Amino acid sequence: MLKASFGALIILAVVGVGLAGFRGDKMGHTPVEWFNDMAHQPKYEPQHRSDFFNDSRAARLPIPGTVPIGFNLPGRYFQTEGNNLVDGLGGFANQPDYFNTGRIGDVYGDGIPDVLTARGAELVVRGQQRYNIYCAVCHGAAGQGNGVVKSFGLATVRPLVDDLLRAQPDGQIFNTITHGKNTMGAYGPVVPVEDRWAIVAYVRALQTATGAKLADLPADEQKKLQEQK
Ligand code: HEC
Repeated sequence: MLKASFGALIILAVVGVGLAGFRGDKMGHTPVEWFNDMAHQPKYEPQHRSDFFNDSRAARLPIPGTVPIGFNLPGRYFQTEGNNLVDGLGGFANQPDYFNTGRIGDVYGDGIPDVLTARGAELVVRGQQRYNIYCAVCHGAAGQGNGVVKSFGLATVRPLVDDLLRAQPDGQIFNTITHGKNTMGAYGPVVPVEDRWAIVAYVRALQTATGAKLADLPADEQKKLQEQK
């Protein structure tokens, strides 16, 4: 009995392999699929037909007004004030120009883009607010590199007011915010372009404030200080 069933098993195996072939074999006919091997999946492939939609296309157009992540329509700022879209420049546009990258070709450019300098002091105030939200935890409210995370062990945070960073062009600081640097993460995905420039302006303000000499102050402020002496 045992002998017979053993023989039957061998015959079954030979017939099975004979029909299906060895795994990985090249064969001229469509292989027998015992299971569907994930080769046939209930999904649409690019450019395929669909009987579900009226226009027979499986690929759907984005809903009108959709803005892909990482891009923004020129002249539209997708932040809202109440229910209104606020006109502006930035968002997370992904163009290769100075405004969006801080670079001119392969080099870092210097200077806050003209379109933003028109905002004057308001830009720096906005930068201060954003800096305090995004950067102060690490770099400290005054940019001394002594933010609260230091006491939790992030020891490599840089002061932003040292000579090396004073000498860096604005575009390089913009680039550091966008992409991060070494142990610092990227803030490009969460801080819109305009706000990154605003932060750069505020970092400059911190640098100016920390390194100020008497002669840098307006005349009346100089006088006040001299009278105090
Ligand atoms: C989670 C902590 C953290 C936050 C938040 C953070 N940084 Fe940094 N940053 C670091 C660390 C750490 C370094 C030093 C990186 C290294 O090892 O070179 C650094 C370095 C820098 C540098 C110097 C880059 C260079 O060229 O050496 C600049 C400029 C800078 N940060 C600006 C910012 C600004 C502006 C923000 C806010 C948008 C910010 N950082 C937010 C941790 C942080």
